[in-house]
Amino acid sequence: MEFDIKNPDLATGGRHRIDWAVQEMAVLRGLREQFAKERPFAGIRIGGTMHVTTETANLMIALQAGGADVVLSASNPLSTQDDVAAALVSHYEIPVFAIKGEDNETYHQHINAVLDHKPHIVMDDGADLVSTLHKSRRDAIGNIIGGTEETTTGIVRLRAMAADGALEFPMMAVNDAMTKHLFDNRYGTGQSTMDGVIRATNLLIAGRVVVVGGYGWCSRGIAMRAKGLGANVIVTEIDHLKALEAVMDGFRVMPMIEAAPQGDIFISATGDMHVMDKHHFEVMKDGAVMANSGHFDIEINKVALRELSTGDPKRVRPFVDQYTMKDGRRLHLLGEGRLVNLAAAEGHPAAVMDMSFAGQALSAKYLLDNKGKLANKVHSVPEEVDQYIAQIKLESMGIQIDTLTDEQVKYLNSWETGT
Ligand code: ADE
Repeated sequence: MEFDIKNPDLATGGRHRIDWAVQEMAVLRGLREQFAKERPFAGIRIGGTMHVTTETANLMIALQAGGADVVLSASNPLSTQDDVAAALVSHYEIPVFAIKGEDNETYHQHINAVLDHKPHIVMDDGADLVSTLHKSRRDAIGNIIGGTEETTTGIVRLRAMAADGALEFPMMAVNDAMTKHLFDNRYGTGQSTMDGVIRATNLLIAGRVVVVGGYGWCSRGIAMRAKGLGANVIVTEIDHLKALEAVMDGFRVMPMIEAAPQGDIFISATGDMHVMDKHHFEVMKDGAVMANSGHFDIEINKVALRELSTGDPKRVRPFVDQYTMKDGRRLHLLGEGRLVNLAAAEGHPAAVMDMSFAGQALSAKYLLDNKGKLANKVHSVPEEVDQYIAQIKLESMGIQIDTLTDEQVKYLNSWETGT
């Protein structure tokens, strides 16, 4: 079996952490048991480009239990947990191509190694796998039944491909499921981003001005958790509706250029480029800290930051690079501007990835069940899948809910009854 990982000796520790995570993943555990009985993926090759974490490991193990032949590469050069990669290779015979800190060239070689496996189903996080398939690995397209996409950024890219008529197989928008973005993006990103900032810096958040770029589901989670830790939170937005929501949620809202001289910690998760740019760096305070929690390392203009500074940045702590400006101010960039929650911490907690990855597993099954019937476009996860995941999650938490009485059903289906 071919693979490319940092160190196979890390496998035992990785396995312990995978076992720890699965205790929090009740929905995925149930699916793994069901898949082991029904073997829906027998004879199917699944190629994943996803963050190599304990949670992803449990998704891969569940798919393997269902008969899939699985292979995995990283969806970000800095998000791999090397012990998990080692455990997947040594304990589960899953080929992994991922090393934390790999350069961009190796990152792309690893994606190509997944495609060499000629997958029938692709699982993507950010759409690099699907875009490589369409651009330079067309030899592997013929085998593809369809794919699943985990994140907002990936779905934006896929929709652009579909609009251009370029998408050559159906893709399931896992991110757009309610049980994904309302939970993973908000509570997962909120907690894990603050975890990343704190692990990297050990700064006290209380009393600090935290500037959050964007007010989508990820950013609002970050704003909520920063506020909960006692920060004075400023939100920046380009969308009137989201900006209004942020105001009504009690945040100060202003343009980034006004926030720049006030902020102690800046965190963006907008999915767009240069949210923090040259003119912002020019007015930031000495000591300011910047982090990105969006999918790609484009939100902070690293080239401009480098140009404004004197000499090379100094690594003052793991995941903290200090850039000294020509006027002596020191600005700090966390995790090289890559997603801070996975670079400097462990990503979202397992309990929330449980729902996202149940969505992944069920979407993969949906693709197989509907093979040949789905158009080459971006498809929504069926509502029944969302309801099923939410139901099992609630049951695993020991929470019961009401059901409609016959009288209530009748009322909801009638239009005559009013005041
Ligand atoms: N994305 C964010 N957190 C993650 C995690 N823990 N595992 C996989 N992908 C993630």
